[in-house]
Amino acid sequence: MSSKDQAAEQVFARRVTLAITGASGVQYGLRLLQCLVELDTQVLLMVSKAAQVVIATETDLKLPGAPDAMEAFLSEHFQARAGQVKVYGREQWMAPVASGSGAPSAMVVCPCSTGTLSAIACGASNNLIERAADVALKERRQLLLVPREAPYSEIHLEHMLKLTRMGAVVVPASPGFYQKPQSVEEMVDFIVARLLSQLGYEQNLLPRWGENML
Ligand SMILES: Cc1cc2nc3c(=O)[nH]c(=O)nc-3n(C[C@H](O)[C@H](O)[C@H](O)COP(=O)(O)O)c2cc1C
Repeated sequence: MSSKDQAAEQVFARRVTLAITGASGVQYGLRLLQCLVELDTQVLLMVSKAAQVVIATETDLKLPGAPDAMEAFLSEHFQARAGQVKVYGREQWMAPVASGSGAPSAMVVCPCSTGTLSAIACGASNNLIERAADVALKERRQLLLVPREAPYSEIHLEHMLKLTRMGAVVVPASPGFYQKPQSVEEMVDFIVARLLSQLGYEQNLLPRWGENML
């Protein structure tokens, strides 16, 4: 970052860790990133290699692979303020998210592949995403997981149960239809609204149950 950028870097209302892993539905993670930026939140972001393949498959984004280039691209794409989106690589062990003393109080893995779900449930910590989730669990901080698979195997279900019992919250990528969504974007927003509510934000993507429903 240039000294000009450093001077422009501001204090943000909140900090959240976001990991995008290689399950289908990367749109959920990207939309969450956009909303967090709009909510004056600094996002400490990790995008797995598999997620980069899924992003290339499911979206039109030409996302660079190197963390610095990805950070510049996403900052511009979502019109983030200087320093608002920080991207970390898979072995960047000196990143704030790798330690309880530096990590934000909340982490979201969205979408969460069954591979990463398994690694988190076992405490593997073999890459920075797994380590950051391990830190969230050991520090008893908020950890939201958005798995997407169909059907689920006993292994997947066991991991979700184990993680729920440890305090993580599983928010499956299963949008409701009672709002009569007219677009994919509205279905994506259904899940993102749930995540923002879990994180404690006043979200206005979706009416609350009982408001303007009929
Ligand atoms: C286009 C595409 C779609 C995929 N969809 C899913 C999925 O919905 N759920 C899942 O658990 N894995 C899915 N995978 C497989 C994961 O990407 C793969 O298991 C990978 O090892 C996960 O790595 P990661 O957890 O480091 O991101 C998909 C892969 C590709 C290329």
